[in-house]
Amino acid sequence: MQKSSNIVVGLDIGTTKVCVVVAEKDESGKLNILGHGRAVSEGLQRATVVNINKTVDAIRSAVADAERESSIRIRGVNVGISGAHVHCINSNSEISVNQSGVVNSSDVNRFLEKAKTNIRYLDIDHEIIHVIPQEFIVDDQEGVLDPIGMAGTTMRGSAYIVVGMKTKIRNIKQCVEKAGLVVNTMTFEPVASGLAVMKESERKSGVVIIDIGGGTTEVAIYIDGAIRFSEVVKVAANDVTHDVAYGVKALYEVAEELKIKHGCAYIRDRSQDEEILVQGIEGRPQKSFLKSSLTLIIEARMMEIFELIRDAVQRSGYYEYLNAGAVLTGGGSLIPGTETLAAEVLGLDVRTGPPEGISGGMKHSINNPMYATVMGLVAYSFEHSSSQDYDAVEPREQQPPVADESSADDVQNQSGTRFVDRLKDWWDRL
Ligand SMILES: Nc1ncnc2c1ncn2[C@@H]1O[C@H](COP(=O)(O)OP(=O)(O)OP(=O)(O)O)[C@@H](O)[C@H]1O
Ligand SMILES: [Mg+2]
Repeated sequence: MQKSSNIVVGLDIGTTKVCVVVAEKDESGKLNILGHGRAVSEGLQRATVVNINKTVDAIRSAVADAERESSIRIRGVNVGISGAHVHCINSNSEISVNQSGVVNSSDVNRFLEKAKTNIRYLDIDHEIIHVIPQEFIVDDQEGVLDPIGMAGTTMRGSAYIVVGMKTKIRNIKQCVEKAGLVVNTMTFEPVASGLAVMKESERKSGVVIIDIGGGTTEVAIYIDGAIRFSEVVKVAANDVTHDVAYGVKALYEVAEELKIKHGCAYIRDRSQDEEILVQGIEGRPQKSFLKSSLTLIIEARMMEIFELIRDAVQRSGYYEYLNAGAVLTGGGSLIPGTETLAAEVLGLDVRTGPPEGISGGMKHSINNPMYATVMGLVAYSFEHSSSQDYDAVEPREQQPPVADESSADDVQNQSGTRFVDRLKDWWDRL
């Protein structure tokens, strides 16, 4: 599978922030960030759009920052999708290999198309978001992850099909399009986060990726190199903030600051207690609060999150196969003590993971678990974009007067030159 451009754009529309990353691959295969942008997100609840205009404004603002930083006009994006409406179906497929007897990319595409049509049941209000191959069996050779180039006559195997509610998918697309962009691809967020934080050895040994966001906690299990299970849990780090606000009787914003400044998720990590001052609401007097009480509030909610994850992992049937344990990511994983608590509740070895495989000067501003999804969206685009995808970017100089109305295909075909080549010239001239 090839990519159409050497520059891709990831767009993560999260419950607390919208972020955009423009990146290219360097010679060593790492992701070199050319620009990024971030805006506060106020149009989503639990990763689902509830206010189109606020979401569009946040996308526009994050995109404008990324464009300014990269000096590139963004057109097409790989946008993340999540929420409790998204679920996954395993489907089997079998095809005859083309006449040459060597598996090629169109065989793989046929295999995936057949896997889609082999789904036994799909709700009328749901549609397929994307199809991820799990493993292939070429003739009698089992456990093949990349079959291209292998000799054989038949190819069997399974695929992981991500489906979601049509209306909620349409809302995401509408927001992206209203912000003047094109949806090149859509990727289930836990798949993206997994791709960003997981090491190859973990993917092979068996690992669960846990992305603790603001509104949702996303779980993805990888065994023998392929995704096997995923789930979106509707409890996350913003619930911790709400609990703190109730517990100390403070505004949400004050509680958020307390959580970030003094928060801890594991009571036994607090050796010495200390008093903290909490601002009263609307001029009411300041109150003092013990750090240990704050920790107890946070620990209770974080424990609930990990118990829900443990239940999901046990239900999946893969618990015994998680040799590498768990990787925590997402902004919620930054609360100190979270790793220890997770290890205790899940009964697994745990590490916290920022996105991997990034190079260049902007590496440090993205080196945070909060950016795992957006970096995974970029990585997924490089791995999976097909040659029919629209280009992700266009140089500012060549921006058409009414960019929103012209299709990306038109842009690609202007003056008969491939867009990618013109982009390279443009870079060379800089
Ligand atoms: N340094 C920090 N310490 C503790 N918590 C933090 C820190 N930074 C961010 N958070 C918390 O992380 C959460 C946001 O995480 P993240 O940015 O991954 O969410 P999101 O992608 O916007 O939401 P979702 O994935 O649920 O749609 C917030 O609840 C925030 O309070
Ligand atoms: Mg997120």
